[in-house]
Amino acid sequence: MNLFVDWLLNLSTNWMPSSSSTSTEWLLSLLSPVLALILVNYKRETFAGIFNRLIQRCHAYISDGMREVYNKSVIKRKEDLFQTMAKDQIFQKGKKILEIGSGSGANLEFFPKDANISLVALDSNEYCRPYLEKRLESFPNVRLDSYLIASAEDMSRIESNSIDCVLSTIVLCSVKNQKNVLREIKRVLKPGCRFYFMENVIANNGSIMSRFQNALNPVNKVILDGCNVNRETLPEIKNAGFSKVHYERFEANLEYVCAMFRPHITGYAEK
Ligand SMILES: C[S@@+](CC[C@H](N)C(=O)[O-])C[C@H]1O[C@@H](n2cnc3c(N)ncnc32)[C@H](O)[C@@H]1O
Repeated sequence: MNLFVDWLLNLSTNWMPSSSSTSTEWLLSLLSPVLALILVNYKRETFAGIFNRLIQRCHAYISDGMREVYNKSVIKRKEDLFQTMAKDQIFQKGKKILEIGSGSGANLEFFPKDANISLVALDSNEYCRPYLEKRLESFPNVRLDSYLIASAEDMSRIESNSIDCVLSTIVLCSVKNQKNVLREIKRVLKPGCRFYFMENVIANNGSIMSRFQNALNPVNKVILDGCNVNRETLPEIKNAGFSKVHYERFEANLEYVCAMFRPHITGYAEK
């Protein structure tokens, strides 16, 4: 059973037999839909687990694939955000940075090359970890303090008042409960420390773009791991009890159907 499960999981990245495959592998590939159906009926719960893992693997792969395109579309704004963090002396030795929804490490290239970063990475998708670790090899300036596979809604493994900075880029669009995530961010931050964010949001109320976003959101959620294109997000940040919220709106440089991800907010919230 376990061998079959592993084989089924590998299909997500390597599903076609090659010319060097054995006849057993060919046979298994041809019979896979039938075997999968038998398995579904044999143990529905197990299959739900396998299916979720397959989906998570695909999402980790898609997220890594989109990293460069997205970074390019917001490059100037991300550089500005990291410059603000630098001015706030976030990158000084000994400071602990928590990145929620760290994904495949899209933000690693923005940390100053001459800094000595201690990063706590947290993501609910365990399959993002290998991508992040692979990328970390190219960034000796960033040391992985710890990697937590957890939901940002419940960061109970992180002590209260222990983090110098929390970072989130295009994550609040995907989390299940923004209120709980923001409450947790505020809890783990040291007093006076900041939560830096860059998030895609819904366009102005009543605009054609906001209608487009509302219409396509159900499909988008399925393709992009629960990512909502129609969240306001800013009111949640403003109402989360931070002492100060500074933000700007901007448009990411995205075209065609990706234009629905253009409206963004970026800034910080101080505990
Ligand atoms: C769109 S990706 C963004 C990744 C990265 N921050 C970036 O800027 O490219 C969203 C990430 O948030 C993670 N995520 C979604 N919901 C989460 C939650 N509730 N808690 C922690 N991570 C979550 C996903 O697994 C994914 O890696």
